[in-house]
Amino acid sequence: MRILGIVIEGERVRLRKLEKLDLPLLHKWANDREVVAWARFSPEHMTSLAALEKAYEKELHDEETERVSFVIEESASSRPIGWCVVRTWDRKHVSANVGISLGEKELWGKGYGTEAMNLLLEIVFDHQGWHHAELWTLAENERAIKSFEKCGFRRVGVEREVAYFSSGYHDVLLMEQLKSEWDARKAS
Ligand SMILES: CC(C)(COP(=O)(O)OP(=O)(O)OC[C@H]1O[C@@H](n2cnc3c(N)ncnc32)[C@H](O)[C@@H]1OP(=O)(O)O)[C@@H](O)C(=O)NCCC(=O)NCCS
Repeated sequence: MRILGIVIEGERVRLRKLEKLDLPLLHKWANDREVVAWARFSPEHMTSLAALEKAYEKELHDEETERVSFVIEESASSRPIGWCVVRTWDRKHVSANVGISLGEKELWGKGYGTEAMNLLLEIVFDHQGWHHAELWTLAENERAIKSFEKCGFRRVGVEREVAYFSSGYHDVLLMEQLKSEWDARKAS
């Protein structure tokens, strides 16, 4: 991995800080029913550009202390293909909550998300020094769960029927990983 200022380079993707110029693309992805069904656990989740601008205002001015968002770029083309986030609201000050989505759907299932999540975990564990990382995903999101397991996450447990869409209740899975497990995986 190569870190150039705020850019973290992998083999096929890089992460860089979210910029104001990214918001229209984020807006497009955040209103794609298929993307938000998986990412926000609801295909009906709609977001205006103004709401996004407000939500990211503090972050874009480096005034946000509990969240940092990154754009995932395909390295070869420098094309933005998705976004990911580290949220650090945990009151015990040991855990970071992470999230990721590729907005460009034709790239799902091609390894980009797993590589991007591994870069995000480098940030969480090696640069920010968090002891524990966690995430939630729909329990039926097999592609995401498989990707997260490849990144070293393990299943903690399922909260039953806590999401509602498409006329039905859906289970949500909590996954976690310790820094010691991350370190052991890197060393092996
Ligand atoms: C979740 C996500 C980031 C994973 O990134 P990705 O690049 O698609 O994942 P990868 O290709 O690295 O790995 C996915 C794995 O699931 C498998 N897979 C692909 N499609 C699948 C499907 N429909 N069902 C089950 N497994 C599937 C792939 O074969 C791969 O496993 P393998 O490496 O053993 O072959 C990406 O799919 C995405 O953004 N999805 C939509 C939004 C989302 O779900 N976000 C997560 C919210 S918690």
